[in-house]
Amino acid sequence: MIPLNITDYSVRCRYRPIQMITRSYAAKGEKMITVSNVSVQFGGSTLFKNVNLKFTNGNCYGVIGANGAGKSTFLRVLCGELEPASGEVAMPKEERLSVLKQDHFAYDEYTVLDTVIMGNARLYEIMQEKDALYAKEDFSEEDGVKASELEGEFAELNGWEAEADASKLIQGLGLSEDILYSQMSTLSGNEKVKVLLAQALFGNPDIILLDEPTNHLDIDAVRWLEEFLSEYFGTVIVVSHDRHFLNNVCTHIVDIDYNKIKMYVGNYEFWYESSQLIQRMIKQQNKKNEEKIKELKDFIARFSANKSKSNQATSRRKLIEKLTVEELPASSRRYPFIGFDMDRELGKDILQVDGISKTVDGVKLLDNVSFTLGRTDKVAFVGESEQAITMLFKILMEEEQPDSGSFKWGVSVTTSYMPVDNSDYFNGCELSILDWIRQYSVKDETETYLRGFLGRMLFSGDDVYKPVNVLSGGEKVRCMFSRMMLFGSNVLLLDRPTNHLDLESITAVNNSLINFKGVVILASHDHEIMQTTANRIIEILPEGCLDRQGTYEEFIDFKKENGLL
Ligand SMILES: Nc1ncnc2c1ncn2[C@@H]1O[C@H](COP(=O)(O)OP(=O)(O)OP(=O)(O)O)[C@@H](O)[C@H]1O
Ligand SMILES: [Mg+2]
Repeated sequence: MIPLNITDYSVRCRYRPIQMITRSYAAKGEKMITVSNVSVQFGGSTLFKNVNLKFTNGNCYGVIGANGAGKSTFLRVLCGELEPASGEVAMPKEERLSVLKQDHFAYDEYTVLDTVIMGNARLYEIMQEKDALYAKEDFSEEDGVKASELEGEFAELNGWEAEADASKLIQGLGLSEDILYSQMSTLSGNEKVKVLLAQALFGNPDIILLDEPTNHLDIDAVRWLEEFLSEYFGTVIVVSHDRHFLNNVCTHIVDIDYNKIKMYVGNYEFWYESSQLIQRMIKQQNKKNEEKIKELKDFIARFSANKSKSNQATSRRKLIEKLTVEELPASSRRYPFIGFDMDRELGKDILQVDGISKTVDGVKLLDNVSFTLGRTDKVAFVGESEQAITMLFKILMEEEQPDSGSFKWGVSVTTSYMPVDNSDYFNGCELSILDWIRQYSVKDETETYLRGFLGRMLFSGDDVYKPVNVLSGGEKVRCMFSRMMLFGSNVLLLDRPTNHLDLESITAVNNSLINFKGVVILASHDHEIMQTTANRIIEILPEGCLDRQGTYEEFIDFKKENGLL
């Protein structure tokens, strides 16, 4: 073992042939990542301290915890991107580690095929060197020797299969093979996410680190990923808030809470049940001890003045000292409060959409979409193409222009919008949370007023002075919710608002949408939210749309009954 120092982990790689190796390999089990005494703190606050863990080959570890608990930070420590305040991470020097990249624009100038192959840095490097050598006009004898060395290493890394392997991954994730030769910059956000995922999985890395990989994936791609990870021979460490996904892939759960990181064997459900049981047992024991202490105290109070009983009182005093009520430490799992108040009542006319069509890069996303909304509508938008729904929302918010058709909001309508991608609101922004939210406050810019909105979203005390560019994924979404609450709008447009959120926050979002008195226009992956919020479903179809009153489940039943599913 050597201390991990990943400035260039490809250098220390030992490559294996690309064909799938089954989990029996893991049985040999000598490979592991060891985390010793690791502590991380930012400013004054400790995220976790004295973490000691071992991650072994063939297992899939689900990292869980509240928004802001430190999951992404822990992954950054594991891959060597962040130096812990103390302690170290060690792994065998020949291990190859790959990380799902979060920067969607980093590969814009490359083709999809190159981007995927870059997942194996050494292989990509050899390919570049080979191309440069063969392109030389004055190809010398020395170049010939070098080329044959490179060819040897290329073959050892199964370079001849690289394109086929990349293609398999891309198709598994539901993209067409043709996309391999497209430029990354021409891809949609969803497609880019899939390519970056294929990059992370390419070339059989020994260790795969994935931070919320399912966030932008459709159901089929999630299923494919579940299967891929379940059969993976190496070590998989994956952060996720998706319970279903965690249950399907994890052999272990790594929980970040109470400023500690603890590992449990089993899937999410098993962790949940057992952690609830432990909490209940501590509470019961505490209750019993508290009752006993009270009883003893009462006895002492009654008899300590009484000489004949004073000996007994003293011995009971000693008993009290032995009884302890365990402090239940504060969990980072907390419920925010989301409540949307309308500053203005809605009139009769809400929204009329007439024949909107839109084509992007030759793909027809919206084709003659028409509908009219009433003041009691809570509409969930569904459809094969999430891009199409996002485009419709953007058109309604005037961020995009339709190719044809028009829409009209009612005069009483005020809107607030939660886009699926909030990076424009935070990228390059160095404002504190407090100053960030102040930008959006028309009525009142005082700290007390703004803190009211931030506090509900769990930003209190000095938190509000944190710069927004260091916030975790979920914390940024919480800022966006504070902003939406501030507007007091009567129509809410939410494009997959629960991406990045922890369970407690998802529940808060769900309740707020159920209780909201205005109009909701929603797209979401969350079955529960769709079912409990929407009273009308509009499916965007390749041609037009299917519009039905009723709940989400009624809509699904209708489709089944009519052979549409
Ligand atoms: N450079 C920094 N300075 C101060 N605080 C920071 C810095 N980087 C991260 N943080 C804070 O550390 C905490 C942990 O962040 P991290 O991104 O690891 O959370 P997370 O568990 O991944 O949350 P989420 O589920 O929302 O993605 C957050 O409160 C974040 O604001
Ligand atoms: Mg995170």
